[in-house]
Amino acid sequence: MILPAINPTTTEAWSALDAHFKELKAQKMQQIFSEDSTRTERFKIEWEDFYIDYSKNRITDKTVSLLLKLAEEVKLSEAIQKQFEGAKINETEDRAVLHTALRDFDNMKPEVKTTLNKMEAFSDAIINGDFKGYSGKTITDVVNIGIGGSHLGPEMVTDALQYYRNHLNIHYVANIDGDAVAETLQSLNPETTLFIVVSKSFTTQETLANANLVRDWFLKTANQNDVQKHFVAVTVNIDGAKKFGISEKNIFPMQDWVGGRFSMWSAVGLSICCAVGFGNFKAMLKGAFQADKHFKNETFKDNIPVILALLSVWYNNFFKCESEAVIAYSQYLQKLVPYLQQAVMESNGKSVDRNGKKINYETGTIVWGSVGTNAQHAFFQLLHQGTKLIPTDFIGFKESLHGNTENHNILMANYFAQTESLWEGTHDKNIKNCFKFFEGNKPTNSILINKLTPKNLGSLVAFYEHKLFVQGIIWNIFSYDQWGVELGKIVAKNTLKAIQTNDLSNVKNHSTTGLISAFKQN
Ligand code: F6P
Repeated sequence: MILPAINPTTTEAWSALDAHFKELKAQKMQQIFSEDSTRTERFKIEWEDFYIDYSKNRITDKTVSLLLKLAEEVKLSEAIQKQFEGAKINETEDRAVLHTALRDFDNMKPEVKTTLNKMEAFSDAIINGDFKGYSGKTITDVVNIGIGGSHLGPEMVTDALQYYRNHLNIHYVANIDGDAVAETLQSLNPETTLFIVVSKSFTTQETLANANLVRDWFLKTANQNDVQKHFVAVTVNIDGAKKFGISEKNIFPMQDWVGGRFSMWSAVGLSICCAVGFGNFKAMLKGAFQADKHFKNETFKDNIPVILALLSVWYNNFFKCESEAVIAYSQYLQKLVPYLQQAVMESNGKSVDRNGKKINYETGTIVWGSVGTNAQHAFFQLLHQGTKLIPTDFIGFKESLHGNTENHNILMANYFAQTESLWEGTHDKNIKNCFKFFEGNKPTNSILINKLTPKNLGSLVAFYEHKLFVQGIIWNIFSYDQWGVELGKIVAKNTLKAIQTNDLSNVKNHSTTGLISAFKQN
């Protein structure tokens, strides 16, 4: 056993939290601010450009101290140390987990440095036009072909850093849906388009099928030799990429110790470099690196990802909240939630503990959300008056990027007003109309950041990465494998064979044979 493997429910802190929860669960905590003038001061962390206010939570000092005790009892410090020192903490895959090494500017591994240099030179040449396509024209469009971790992070960042973008058009082809691929290709000119095939394994069905489809499209106008000029790869599987026809000099290596959903900091981020330039990509890595240092060195009581993780455990395991929402008050962050969904749910959606035992407590939270203020006009009704308790992270920036100060003031006024309304509920306690009554007592974390910069985005994402790791340690699960995605992949292969051959004899399930038959009757 490399990581400590302690069932959290057997700790003293857990029992104490259970008893404490019973005292607290029915308490209407709205009054607490008027009774306790220093609450906000105590439940707040200020760090670099971040201001984190977690005072609007159903917690007291006792809650926090018990949660911190829980972190101690499950040996969180030891686990953090193991992760950063490169121990093989992904024990079921026998791998280290070192996405933090990709941004460790104090102690950079030579292979990381070499790849970063290669990414810089390559993206510079694409951006400044030194790199020419097969007919001598400069590149105007870059298409990232990849799925899951080979798609969500780069697309989220490319969108989030739109303000810092250059002239290149960046596209993402992820879904195997041929209509989606066709829609993307429609606007592209093969002479001026670069394709980056991103797949850690270079075996992912969707990515390989899409890469083949795109190459066929490319070869309608170009020659086989031109593939070398327009297709590059990012992968651990160098042979796989070479077999596809990509020359070794155009392969950007990844390391085995980088998990797919944590890989946007690696060569997987090549499309980000093309979109915003290597300097901005590096600034994002630096922001993440600073967050790593904070996570590694800060005492737990002032440690942003640790506190956010503990609060999440509090709601998940004691209040039995099934989900948590993330609402970013920035249109730029519209792809943050899908990104977090993979990071969090692929990591912590586990029901067997690190001892191989079936778990009898709740693990992975369901993450969902959108951007404010749009979400206010969509599902906030349920947050305010529904029967479910949904702790919510609010994220926003002090400064807008384009000015438009009046809009920004309105945007942020809504952010602050929503966290207040969720907490305080109906101001008029004598209200007679029950349909207009707001209970309040709904928890939120307010994450306020100076400005949406590459550096701050890097820190924000790194905090969420560390948060999910802390939760996984507490829940005694392996956060860094993803065996749960394998079964569907195997069955899909069998199903495809049945569709292609019309032989349904190996399809196990009658409902599925019915569906395939109906599908084939078209
Ligand atoms: O969906 C499972 C998964 O393995 C993810 O973890 C990963 O990000 C994605 O598939 C893509 O994998 P690859 O980069 O190897 O194509």
